[in-house]
Amino acid sequence: MTNSNVQKAEGKLGVLVVGLGAVSTTFMTGVLMVRKGLAKPIGSMTQYDKIRVGRGADKKYLHYNEIVSMPSLNDIVFGAWDVYPANAYESALNCEVLKEKDIEPVKDELVKIVPMKAAFDKNYAKRLDGNNVKDCKDRWDMVEQIREDIRKFKAETGVSRIVVLWAASTEIYVPVDEKIHYHLADLEAAMKADDREHVAPSMCYAYAALKEGAPFIMGAPNTTVDIPAMWELAEQTKLPIAGKDFKTGQTLVKSGFSPILGTRCLGLSGWFSTNILGNRDGLVLDEPANFHTKEVSKLSTLETILKPDVQPDLYGHGNAEDTQYYHKVRINYYPPRNDNKEGWDNIDIFGWMGYPMQIKINFLCRDSILAAPLCLDLVLLSDLAHRAGRYGTQRFLSFFLKAPMHDYTQGEEAVNHLYQQYTMLKNAIREMGGYEADEEID
Ligand SMILES: NC(=O)c1ccc[n+]([C@@H]2O[C@H](COP(=O)([O-])OP(=O)(O)OC[C@H]3O[C@@H](n4cnc5c(N)ncnc54)[C@H](O)[C@@H]3O)[C@@H](O)[C@H]2O)c1
Repeated sequence: MTNSNVQKAEGKLGVLVVGLGAVSTTFMTGVLMVRKGLAKPIGSMTQYDKIRVGRGADKKYLHYNEIVSMPSLNDIVFGAWDVYPANAYESALNCEVLKEKDIEPVKDELVKIVPMKAAFDKNYAKRLDGNNVKDCKDRWDMVEQIREDIRKFKAETGVSRIVVLWAASTEIYVPVDEKIHYHLADLEAAMKADDREHVAPSMCYAYAALKEGAPFIMGAPNTTVDIPAMWELAEQTKLPIAGKDFKTGQTLVKSGFSPILGTRCLGLSGWFSTNILGNRDGLVLDEPANFHTKEVSKLSTLETILKPDVQPDLYGHGNAEDTQYYHKVRINYYPPRNDNKEGWDNIDIFGWMGYPMQIKINFLCRDSILAAPLCLDLVLLSDLAHRAGRYGTQRFLSFFLKAPMHDYTQGEEAVNHLYQQYTMLKNAIREMGGYEADEEID
């Protein structure tokens, strides 16, 4: 760590989570259980991964916290907002992701995580009807109330830094509108004019977080920080932002598997992905306007990995316009499975002389079990980026995200290819640790 240009992780790290549902309570319970030595943080890059630094005789493989200063899990203090008043213990039991034996040992700590009143607008998630909701005059007042919550949390807990993570329900699709979302002044004017159509509650959380000095991470596919006005605010406040949508199950598989086809120059005529899911996330996504937000995010993955314009013979056929393979994604709400999502992928490929073949992938996953380590990594790495003086969109965090943010106004493309994303992640850690970035195969 000798040449690292990162400020040391001193004091406590406040982690304020928007939404106290399946993902966030699984994340929190896991961290608290690990702290007691009663569980292992499987799937977390910051806790397990090792990165090679140096070359030749100087080559070593180090954990992230041996390369850059990172907080220990003991330094984390949790807080949350939710539409429902249940504390983290009650919510963890209700969500039925974890067994009681994995919740009870940390009950005392979970009970104390009582959600603050949510900044909520039912039009953005019609299937939710909780009453732990702020009474807001307008969107600007919503921002002011969230800012006050953050300041109060900081004063009461004595944390030295805060990261805000959105792990709340997916909002309805908010298309980017140049008149409102391109300039910070216009966004602020819309908040003051109470423009509820263009200013989602999630934008109020993000705006408040950045104004209060906290990096903001969007774990759902919501537009929120993926607009130039928020990039401007992140530049102005010198804070990192990241998003969107945790890359957990099907899209993780897709972004890791599709490079096999691309690397071997095999053709693709169609990729059909479907899921059954029965938790509250599935319930919200059963509403077409909410599903559309998710659909846009899930569809974006393949197009930047298997490009029809670069390889028209391989990826240029299949849909009505005959310009690209068919790519469909569906999510079906099916209560009996609760959080245990089942995903099916049918992949129609073709080989030598165009002969067709099929690949089937059936992933019986656990949504929140896959998402929890991403929450931990995104929080710790956003805090790291802040201490390293990085701000704006953190592209090195694309590895964890389904629809990684990128500057679409400049024609920049998202990087979705899992192994390219991993190189970006490793190089950012190397650079922050004062080592040379490189792409040498490990
Ligand atoms: N688990 C995964 O694999 C995965 C992957 C990608 C994205 N996500 C996203 O993560 C989010 C959380 O998923 P989950 O399974 O925990 O859902 P969940 O329904 O169990 O929890 C979400 C919670 O957010 C609360 N909420 C909604 N709007 C709010 C607001 N404005 N302010 C405060 N609280 C609010 C809800 O009341 C609910 O308790 C969803 O948006 C989901 O799409 C999950």
